[in-house]
Amino acid sequence: MPATALPPAIEEQLCQLVRERTGIRILDHQLDTLRRTVADALSRFGHGDAADYLAALRAARASSPEHEHLIAGITVGESYFFRDQAQMAWLREQWLPELIARRRAENSLSLRIWSAGSSDGQELYSLAMLLAEQLPDREQWNLHLLGTDINSEALARALRGRYSEWSLRATPEAARKRHFRQEKDRVWSISATLRDHVHFAYLNLREDSFPSMLSETNALDLILCRNVFIYFDPAIVAEVMRKFHACLVPGGHLLLGASDLIDSGTLAGFALHSLDNAFYLQSQVVEPARISEAAWPRIPPQPVPQPVSHATPTAAPAPASSYENIIGLLGREAWREALEAISECQARGDDSALPRQFRAKALANLGRAREALEACDASLALAADDKHGHFLRALILLELHRQPAAEESLRRTLFLDRNFVEAHYQLALLQMRRGARESGIKSMKNALAIAERARPDRRLHDAAGRDHERMAAILRHELRMYESDTGYRK
Ligand SMILES: C[S@@+](CC[C@H](N)C(=O)[O-])C[C@H]1O[C@@H](n2cnc3c(N)ncnc32)[C@H](O)[C@@H]1O
Repeated sequence: MPATALPPAIEEQLCQLVRERTGIRILDHQLDTLRRTVADALSRFGHGDAADYLAALRAARASSPEHEHLIAGITVGESYFFRDQAQMAWLREQWLPELIARRRAENSLSLRIWSAGSSDGQELYSLAMLLAEQLPDREQWNLHLLGTDINSEALARALRGRYSEWSLRATPEAARKRHFRQEKDRVWSISATLRDHVHFAYLNLREDSFPSMLSETNALDLILCRNVFIYFDPAIVAEVMRKFHACLVPGGHLLLGASDLIDSGTLAGFALHSLDNAFYLQSQVVEPARISEAAWPRIPPQPVPQPVSHATPTAAPAPASSYENIIGLLGREAWREALEAISECQARGDDSALPRQFRAKALANLGRAREALEACDASLALAADDKHGHFLRALILLELHRQPAAEESLRRTLFLDRNFVEAHYQLALLQMRRGARESGIKSMKNALAIAERARPDRRLHDAAGRDHERMAAILRHELRMYESDTGYRK
């Protein structure tokens, strides 16, 4: 499709809309791509002119076909396996062996990795291959490998796992032999084993909330967000960096791409290391709330979330202000400070279910899933019919890879409230991951129907900032991703 000039005011407003919804800045040299995408959209969706198209985009939800088409058109999805040899060498030779040895010594065989802006999945699969090399006892490990992107078409390709020869240009021969099968026309398909070890989900780094147990972006050991920030507005980069910091366990690592130059002001809470040609960031043991105001760029204040539970306190409940303080700290991802406030509240004699549930949430976000489960069970012992407690328990069990028990807790949540949309969603993911595709899609459709029926701005339980309308948009993206992968084998 040729790039047709657009009226300057419309072009400007389109760039503005893209920046607001995705964080992506369209630079001058990318304007032709935008113009081509618009020309294609006009004929594809039958809008009279660019102004009509803009109006439709504005009125439409983030999951509308127009919006999807625009995102697919303007996002640059170039990726390949084992991209950036220096970083890959650091991961293979240093980061992984050290972490694996430490986890073995602690008898805690768990590892959590997120590829944010995963495109067609090459980055996440590369990590899965490195892990396969180094974990002969892989089945003993609790591995969480998550890839997320804003482009549902890319996610569907990642799920399918079929790649051109060009994507494998930096792949070591041994990995190629072990993890790929060659199909016709120089197409390579990734092994089912590897596909079973990774998950892909829709997440817009600009709009969606993280860390969140719901999107499994909490308590991470490593985040890869490479070659994504190059297209972002600096203010948005700063905000995403702050949230990444909160997603990592203390001492966890963040890898950016070599061209992702960011302001030093956005590095608060991270130590910058470099090794040969690779550089990486390590999260320091410091709560975001303790980092000086000046170090963080200004972000809009978050509304204080609603209490996570409606469980009736059984004894000496704390004053509301104390709960509000804890909820505020949890909402700001200040997990350690929240734990301190919870201990203070309990030391004052509050022996009720709620502080235990708060503790479970903070511990889970710090990667201390086993302790979190104990705290959650203790809260449920006092409030057996608390749907929020059962849902939290399910999320913790998922972190511990105890799927059957997690499923039981999800079903218990749904027994207590059949409109608990996040429980339907988690059940869908669980079913999908154990190969029950039909049931998974059905559960996801149930979740979507509930999210669409609910008041759009009604907030969800776990995710600060995510309401039912946003949840519905995410569900539509993910349904598209799963439904378009007819060869889905898990
Ligand atoms: C150049 S690719 C990088 C792929 C991979 N990380 C790598 O380095 O090979 C950039 C990816 O970022 C994704 N992206 C752009 N804006 C995003 C946003 N707001 N949220 C999530 N992903 C985004 C794009 O869709 C694209 O797939």
